[in-house]
Amino acid sequence: MASSRPDPEPEPESVFPREVRLFTDSYSESSRFCFCGHELSITQNFGSRLGVAARVWDAALSLCNFFESQNVDFRGKKVIELGAGTGIVGILAALQGGDVTITDLPLVLEQIQENVRANVPSGGRAKVCALSWGMDQHGFPGNYDLVLGADIVYLEPTFPLLLGTLQHLCGPHGTIYLASKMREEHGTESFFQHFLPQHFQLELAQRDEDANVNIYRARHREGRPARHHPSC
Ligand SMILES: C[S@@+](CC[C@H](N)C(=O)[O-])C[C@H]1O[C@@H](n2cnc3c(N)ncnc32)[C@H](O)[C@@H]1O
Repeated sequence: MASSRPDPEPEPESVFPREVRLFTDSYSESSRFCFCGHELSITQNFGSRLGVAARVWDAALSLCNFFESQNVDFRGKKVIELGAGTGIVGILAALQGGDVTITDLPLVLEQIQENVRANVPSGGRAKVCALSWGMDQHGFPGNYDLVLGADIVYLEPTFPLLLGTLQHLCGPHGTIYLASKMREEHGTESFFQHFLPQHFQLELAQRDEDANVNIYRARHREGRPARHHPSC
């Protein structure tokens, strides 16, 4: 027979979890990643302050995997990373011998700097600078060999700014690698179909079906493209 007695009062301990992080609006987490024989320790500072910049996104991991599997050569190359977040991609490029500038909006730089300090031996070539797309690019040279970006194509109003920034930074013989989660709701595909091809030759270098991440390789077109407006 079922008992009609009410459930006992829960112990206070089971009502209030011991997980202190649930009561703070921000917390840090250090994670380890292995690429190209380097063990990277990356701190992510979660909370409202950094927003999407706080974490390592799938696209960043796909790009690091791609560099490893394709043996991309960074030695002696002048490299810049845009919208770096934690800086994991730029840090790997620096450890692989690149002369790397890692950039993002000003409030993200402290997190990147922390990760650079933890992973790049002093004397390594990784500097951290503020670069807001469409505003600051002219403060940087226009002759980078490699321009890198992971999951930076997700805000449609920024697409023209990002395009202008890529145009300026990528040297005449430079290569751009962009890894993107292909989110329909953010118009990501339209950037690669309509914006980038206006000024760059573009190829899909790799698609990770499970993560829905595309990696594109882009190079300046020779000469300026004719502006073509389809009539339908
Ligand atoms: C989705 S996060 C990707 C972070 C990192 N690349 C990754 O994949 O882990 C997008 C990044 O773009 C940066 N960002 C957004 N708008 C920007 C702008 N207008 N100029 C520069 N960076 C911007 C954000 O601060 C953020 O770090």
